[in-house]
Amino acid sequence: MNSSFPKHLLALLFLSLLPGPAAWAQKKNPASIATSTPDVERRVVELLARMTLEEKVGQLNQYSGREVTGPASDRKNTLLASIRAGQVGSMLNVKGVKDTREIQAEALKSRLKIPLLFSLDVIHGYQTTFPIPLGEAASWDLEAIRLGAHVAAREAAASGIHWTFAPMVDIGRDPRWGRVMEGAGEDTYLGSLIAKARVLGFQGEKLGGTDAVMACAKHFAAYGAAIAGRDYNAVDMSPQQLWEVYLPPFKAAADAGVATFMNSFNALNGIPATGSAYLQRDILKGQWQYPGFVVSDWGSIGELVNWGYAADKTAAAQKAITAGSDMDMESDAYHKNLAQLVQTGQVKIDLVDDAVRRVLRKKFELGLFDDAYRFSDEQREKQVLSDPQNRAAARRMAQKSFVLLKNENATLPLTKPLRRVALIGPLAKAKRDLNGSWTVDTDTTRITSLYEGLRQRAGKTTELLYAKGCEITGDSRAGFEQAIATAKNADLILLTVGEAWDMSGEAKSRTDIHMPGAQEELFQALKATGKPVAVVVFGGRPLIFDTIAEQADAILYAWWPGSEGGTALADVLYGDYNPAGKLPITFPRSMGQIPIAYSQQYSTGRPITRPGEIRYKSAYIDAPNTPRYAFGYGLSYTTFNYSDLKISRPQMRTGESVQVSFTLTNTGNVAGEEVTQFYLRDPVASVVRPLKELKDFRKISLRSGESKTVTFTIDKDKLAFYNSKLEWVAEPGKFNFMVGSASDDIRLEGSMELL
Ligand code: GLC
Repeated sequence: MNSSFPKHLLALLFLSLLPGPAAWAQKKNPASIATSTPDVERRVVELLARMTLEEKVGQLNQYSGREVTGPASDRKNTLLASIRAGQVGSMLNVKGVKDTREIQAEALKSRLKIPLLFSLDVIHGYQTTFPIPLGEAASWDLEAIRLGAHVAAREAAASGIHWTFAPMVDIGRDPRWGRVMEGAGEDTYLGSLIAKARVLGFQGEKLGGTDAVMACAKHFAAYGAAIAGRDYNAVDMSPQQLWEVYLPPFKAAADAGVATFMNSFNALNGIPATGSAYLQRDILKGQWQYPGFVVSDWGSIGELVNWGYAADKTAAAQKAITAGSDMDMESDAYHKNLAQLVQTGQVKIDLVDDAVRRVLRKKFELGLFDDAYRFSDEQREKQVLSDPQNRAAARRMAQKSFVLLKNENATLPLTKPLRRVALIGPLAKAKRDLNGSWTVDTDTTRITSLYEGLRQRAGKTTELLYAKGCEITGDSRAGFEQAIATAKNADLILLTVGEAWDMSGEAKSRTDIHMPGAQEELFQALKATGKPVAVVVFGGRPLIFDTIAEQADAILYAWWPGSEGGTALADVLYGDYNPAGKLPITFPRSMGQIPIAYSQQYSTGRPITRPGEIRYKSAYIDAPNTPRYAFGYGLSYTTFNYSDLKISRPQMRTGESVQVSFTLTNTGNVAGEEVTQFYLRDPVASVVRPLKELKDFRKISLRSGESKTVTFTIDKDKLAFYNSKLEWVAEPGKFNFMVGSASDDIRLEGSMELL
């Protein structure tokens, strides 16, 4: 590899040789990820000693900069005056070299010339948009996920951004909650590994490099468990659930060196997270010894008043700083109240000093005191944003994110000679929708639609017909006739349905996750033509689409695939890439089944023991217990066989381990990848345990006919859980293990004993 080979790709090449998630879990944080150094600590202490109380409070204020770079306005003038007076520590939503240089120059007019931190929601890409995080999670490809975050960080860091408000590591089990699109799905083990991959991707090999940004683990904590799936709602849960399911991805992020945390809008067991000393001081800064800082979510300090947790904003400021919220995003509560709270003895200056030290430490680690403009270099911005590697990485990740849910009679890939394909549906030519929500770039000239991707790929061999058929929402059937006529002229119908980009995301909870509008009726009308119908579904969450699920010939779930979505879809639809995605979240048959995460399934005292025999059993009388599509489910254009299960020994003691191995064979005609999943169950324990929990997985690539031996290791930690005293224990006894292609497609199983 010559020296000009890009450093980040060299690193990823090396890491891609790692055997898989288990290696990830063990991989130590790269020593180069900067925590503090003696020099940084010295400089922080020296600077803090020179700061007035007002200047200290100034570092704890963060404002959105949409106005500050726009035309003159009162808000702009006020903000610029505060920045010049050293009363602002960070700005969000200021991006690009030109604007960040301009605003940083204002900050350097302050007495102590403390530079600003520029932050932005770079959730799944900066200019090159990657699939939404839930789609990336469906790849189960930690290296690809890391690379996606790294590309996003390179582009953002080249554009003046120091800090992204990502990864969102909230476990999301409730598809009514629109923010499931932003996380890694319902599983703690997968979500923890993805949290680590994203942190290391965003922060690079060394925090402070100009190809990396500070990451932010959010939203701390348990935000995804909002009652009724309604955003910003309260959360009630047992300590076991909090520690076993919702906290581990945050701990994984902290262990990976994440520079910051963001707290959450929800209350947890009666205490708003922003005002929770249990979360922010006892757990994060206490037990976990976390050295970074916590930023509040937008206005959440002020919202303590709405919660009825603080009588007014002064009390809110007092409760938040005391609870460990270091920086105040956009509520102005600290700006208006914190100095006076210190002067009147209601808040100890030590708390303010601790918060300020944490913020200053990051500014030193980023090198901003040495060169406040080091992330704002016009030449680098141009060079990095035009790097073709970025879109190539986005295309590869999009290919990996797609989940093949159905493929009858080998409808896909489109390899048979097809004279005409009718591309129909409201999302066939969509561009903006393909970037989904939480996208930085909405320039549709940089987004390839499915129509464009197919046109490029089909070339002269296949004529591509098109009709919209209907809108995404609304019940108009005015376009059906033309769609049917178009379909009748084709050999195959490719129907594109789903959600618009703003139907999932923040503040997008839905009481009904059925396919919106008349899209399923359009499907039925097209199916009635007798032509084969392959369906591509776009969306930010699991959707319910019974008719399509039962009657379509093929279904490909595409999430929101980003800038290269159309190209990547064409690659998969034409078989240039064999899909290998697996669902990171369960798809229910009906709303009534929610919550239905696979690891929320227990034996109960009345399990169904014979299919269909549900009298006086834990069952519904109007629907099965099983989901439409299970966690971990996804098909391929090839097939895989699992055989030859072996266990290194039937028993182990604490401190020992057991290896479970088996042979995986590609029994189909094309090369492909299989995500083999390893689940464990503790059938008898001091607290009842789920029927299965994911404890390991491997993504294995096999040529047609090829076999490989796959090995999983069981150690004490994989057998452990929180007991009723909240102790992390592995109790002696028998454990069942299951190896499979999905949580509901177990191919091999056995048991072992912990002595
Ligand atoms: C939003 C989101 C948070 C985001 C922040 C800044 O309300 O909850 O995830 O980072 O505000 O945009």
